Amino acid sequence: MGKWRTHMCGEIGPAIAEKLVKVAGWVWRRRDHGGLIFIDLRDRTGVVQLVFSPERSADAYRIADSARAEYVVSCQGVVKLRPEGRKNPNIPTGDIEIEPASIELLNPSKTPPLCIEDDSGVDETVRLRYRYIDLRRPTMHQKIALRHRITMATRAFLDREGFLEIETPMLTRSTPEGARDYLVPSRVNPGEFYALPQSPQLFKQLLMVAGMDRYFQIVRCFRDEDLRADRQPEFTQIDIEMSFITREDIIDLTERLVCHVYEQALGVDLPRPFRRIEYDDAIARYGSDKPDLRFGMEITDLAGCLKRSSFKVFYDAIAQGGTVRGIRVPGQGNLSRREIDDLAAFAKSAGARGLLWVSVAGANTRSSFSKFVTQAEMDALGHAMGASDGDLLLLAVGPGVEISKALGALRFHLSGKLGLAATGNVATCWVTDFPLFELDSAGSLTSSHHPFTSPAESDLGRLEAEPLQVKSNAYDLVINGNEVAGGSIRISKRDIQERIFRTLGMSDEEARAKFGFLLEAFEYGAPPHGGIAFGLDRFVMVLAGEENIRDVIAFPKTTSASDLMTGAPSPVPDDKLREVHIQLVRKPDKA
Ligand code: AMO
Repeated sequence: MGKWRTHMCGEIGPAIAEKLVKVAGWVWRRRDHGGLIFIDLRDRTGVVQLVFSPERSADAYRIADSARAEYVVSCQGVVKLRPEGRKNPNIPTGDIEIEPASIELLNPSKTPPLCIEDDSGVDETVRLRYRYIDLRRPTMHQKIALRHRITMATRAFLDREGFLEIETPMLTRSTPEGARDYLVPSRVNPGEFYALPQSPQLFKQLLMVAGMDRYFQIVRCFRDEDLRADRQPEFTQIDIEMSFITREDIIDLTERLVCHVYEQALGVDLPRPFRRIEYDDAIARYGSDKPDLRFGMEITDLAGCLKRSSFKVFYDAIAQGGTVRGIRVPGQGNLSRREIDDLAAFAKSAGARGLLWVSVAGANTRSSFSKFVTQAEMDALGHAMGASDGDLLLLAVGPGVEISKALGALRFHLSGKLGLAATGNVATCWVTDFPLFELDSAGSLTSSHHPFTSPAESDLGRLEAEPLQVKSNAYDLVINGNEVAGGSIRISKRDIQERIFRTLGMSDEEARAKFGFLLEAFEYGAPPHGGIAFGLDRFVMVLAGEENIRDVIAFPKTTSASDLMTGAPSPVPDDKLREVHIQLVRKPDKA
């Protein structure tokens, strides 16, 4: 018999009735009922009820009486079928209980600062401060276990497919993925710094040059960027790279991996192939490069039916190269003016210049622009949008991309308000044919993914002259409106890589200083290669049906990138700073 336990709490069942067992765990609830003490004992696998009576053991009864929430105990007793009336159909062990003859108090607990119940509504700062207690909640255990199943299924799948798991350095040079680097000062090289990897991008490409052929790694990445519900400063990627492959090979492998994981982790059979949408189309029809396809409300372009409109707003916009686009909100035709005004305010905050509306109701159709259009135009518009009585049509006028983005934000906002996405469906899609470059907030050219992404071959000729028109060989995997993975076919030739750096405004010297090792490697026989990386935390979040990435990470950081439990980041004493050759210009207030 084990020192503290023979069985886990969740393993106790009618099959071992009348057997002597030992269980150990945390006191979840303790009730005193008519001379009996009931304790629900909890461990990772579940809960089992212990029933203490003074007749069976006065000692055990006395210790049980003194036990409080979260005390750690071990007890030995006989498994009994519960008498009728005491059965609890709501828990897996509800048909049995244990009658302990002895109980050992292994460690007491102070009154916990948060209650170990699911949905206890505790403030997140308390949860993060006492994460080791928060993680005791059964739903947190389930999410951590789900994460484990996902990583195990991933490893098994990739191993079977001939991938090697290879580690890459954490102390390295900057890998540009669009965020700031976390820097680590070098003690032995005064004034020099390592950067923590934003991803293993360059190393995995070099592993392809090294002939490793198929690489994967479940790896921590670090990005100093503004945090949101789906972003952490350190997060985990399932990072993949392959040689001698095309985009189709990577898409095929990724889809099979995703289906395998859904099947293994959740028992869900996902249909394949996943839908594909080109980037321009995703923006036009959903106003987003990560469209949530669990619900409709697609954006309809109405230029075709309104280009000869008698309504000057429509006519002028289309004549000036803009357009009119709209979404149909099914069954919401009776929203009040105030509610529509709120939607208009939302659309404006998302970049629309205004919002026009139609409440469809046969002969009683009302609209914010009825008096400016003919009945025939209104009919054509309704027809183009597939409207039926009871629907609300929301329209915006202006440059296509701008109004699609605003309507896309409105579509997303309305899906939340109307609960459209909460269907339990899984909607997968690939977004392809991204532009290779985009303009950053300062108006400079920057890579849409990273600078190692290969341009579409047919666009190579206009790389320098019309960079914003060049498409890339990149693809993103979107599940339920979340960008779960992204990758590309890479550049494997030095001259093309150099042209990209130059187009990005980097001098040849700068390119050589930062990426000379990569450029050099391309001259020693680099195979055609490409890959993809999943955001593992986001992937788990989607499978768990959660909306916050922190809920699927054991020890996450807050949106201000701090760890409330350990207190990191924290000031460092001057002598430690001197050791790494750093002197603070200004002492932070915290110090
Ligand atoms: P990318 O930058 O798109 O590509 O990252 C890949 C995936 O990682 C996830 N992700 C994040 N998750 C949580 N917190 C963050 N701060 C964060 N940033 C990104 C997303 C994203 O799709 N080296 C390339 C991959 C490649 O080209 O193979 C890369 O890192 O789910």
